[in-house]
Parts: sequence; structure tokens; C-alpha cells
Amino acid sequence: MDTIDPSSRQRAALAKRYGEADVPALGPWSETLELLLSHRTLRGFSSAPLPANTLETLVAAASSASTSSNLQTWSVVAVTDHDTKVELAKVGANQKYIVECPLFMVWIADLSRNNRLGREEGMHLEGNDTLEMMLMASLDATLAAQNAAVAAESIGLAMCYIGGLRNDAARVAELLHLPPGAFAVFGMCVGTPKPGAPSEVKPRLPQSIVLHRETYKVGDEKALRTLYDQRMGVFSKRNDMAMQTWTQRVVQRLAKLSGMSGRQHLKETLIRLGFPLQ
Ligand SMILES: Cc1cc2nc3c(=O)[nH]c(=O)nc-3n(C[C@H](O)[C@H](O)[C@H](O)COP(=O)(O)O)c2cc1C
Repeated sequence: MDTIDPSSRQRAALAKRYGEADVPALGPWSETLELLLSHRTLRGFSSAPLPANTLETLVAAASSASTSSNLQTWSVVAVTDHDTKVELAKVGANQKYIVECPLFMVWIADLSRNNRLGREEGMHLEGNDTLEMMLMASLDATLAAQNAAVAAESIGLAMCYIGGLRNDAARVAELLHLPPGAFAVFGMCVGTPKPGAPSEVKPRLPQSIVLHRETYKVGDEKALRTLYDQRMGVFSKRNDMAMQTWTQRVVQRLAKLSGMSGRQHLKETLIRLGFPLQ
């Protein structure tokens, strides 16, 4: 039996997420919150097959997410075929866990269904051609995916999002036979953690940076960021990460367009994939 009292567990979970010095005031607590706070991305998967019907379970969780106007503008392609995963990994900067994981879920912003519905009903749905609908479909796909991610973690599985698929969204569309109006927002590796794979909870920006009360205030952001950099520096060293601080990571990722690894052309790619973005 677990003898640690709930408030100690809550404090410990918050300390892992924010660091000892930035634990926020303790509020209500639940097993769901404990699960959410213990999230960490895993990048090493065992070859063990998933329990029977895991995919259907994850999709049921995904389908239970809120969805704008109940339009449900998302789909997911479940990839288990080795060769397809190899090709997808080539798009995603050869991240080996794409091939390693037993289930690779590709989350789709899907306006193609509305296009088909419009055609079948004998009309052109003008609103479906807008930037707003591309954003709505991406939001729907993201919320669905995050529900699946939490569901996976709740049953002892691990996951890793793969935004690297947007390095070449057209190639992903080709590999997965996506119809016009469907676009892979990101992939998600799902599997059983490989023993020994690093899995430490990664500290986040303190609430004093991300939480604004009533109105947005920049306040002491710079000083607080320096403190977070120090915390991330210690974490990075312990976890053999290339970038030492969070500031370095942001700069390395965004200073040059070339750092976007092809995604700087996303607008043109989306238009080619059947999103007019009006
Ligand atoms: C949309 C999205 C795309 C991501 N793409 C990748 C990726 O291509 N490769 C990877 O290793 N991690 C990827 N990640 C995982 C993030 O790097 C990770 O969530 C972040 O570093 C925080 O770590 P944590 O999830 O362990 O807390 C992605 C996360 C999100 C939300």
C-alpha cells in the first residue's frame, strides 16, 4: 500500500515539474493530475507488441476530445508497417524511434471529409477553404492526439510526438495516400518503454512567466528566464542533452530560417495539398 500522503505526492510532482524553488500553491489533487504532471516524452521503445485493441482504445480517447462545432475535422493513420515507418523516419530527420515503436500514429488535419460531404450534397463549402478551417482542423487533430497521449500514459505506455513529419508534409501525404485537404500535423510514437531509456520529467517555465492574471504582463520575465536557464542547464547536463539552456534552444531553433528544416515552406506546401488558406 502507498503510505505517502497525497499532499506530499502532489508537492513532489509539482517540484519535478517546476523545480523546488517554484512549486506553486497546492490546490485540489487527483490521480488524473498526478498522471498529467508525470508526463515525459520517451525516445526508446521495446519491440513488445501492444496489448490487444490498444489502438481502438486510444482512438476512443481521441474521439472524446472537444472538437470545434462538432465538425470533427481530424483523422489518424495508424502505421505499423516497417517499411512505411522507415520512409516516414526519413522525413522526420531519421529519428530512430519512429521505426522502433510498434505503433506510429499520424494525426491528420482533415478537411477532405467536408469536401466530399459538400460534393455529395451538391455544393461547394466556401468556408472549408479558409485559413480559419485549416487552423480549426489542426486544433482538432491536436486535441484528439493529446487525449490519446494521456490515455497511452495512463495504461503504462509511452509516447513521443514527431513534428519532424512537417519537414516534408507533401512526402508524408504521398506515403499515406492522403486526399487533397488532408495534412499530417505530426506523428506520435506509441509503445512500451525500453528499459533504461531516459525518462526524467522535464522542468517547465515557472507559472510566474506563463500565468497572467486578468491582463498580460511581461514583468520580470528576463530574470525569471535566467533562473529557468540555470535549472534547464542542470537538467540538460544530467540527461546528456546537446543544448544547455532553454534560451540557447530557442535561439538555435529559430535564429535562421534554415533551422526550420523545410517547414519554412509550409504555406506553399499546404496550398499544394489542397488547403486554399483564404
Ligand atoms: C507538436 C510536437 C512535436 C514534437 N516533435 C518532436 C520530434 O519530432 N522529435 C522529438 O524527439 N520530440 C518531439 N516532440 C517532443 C518535445 O520535444 C517534448 O515534448 C519537449 O521537449 C518537452 O519534453 P517532455 O514532453 O518530456 O516534457 C514534439 C512535441 C510536440 C508537442
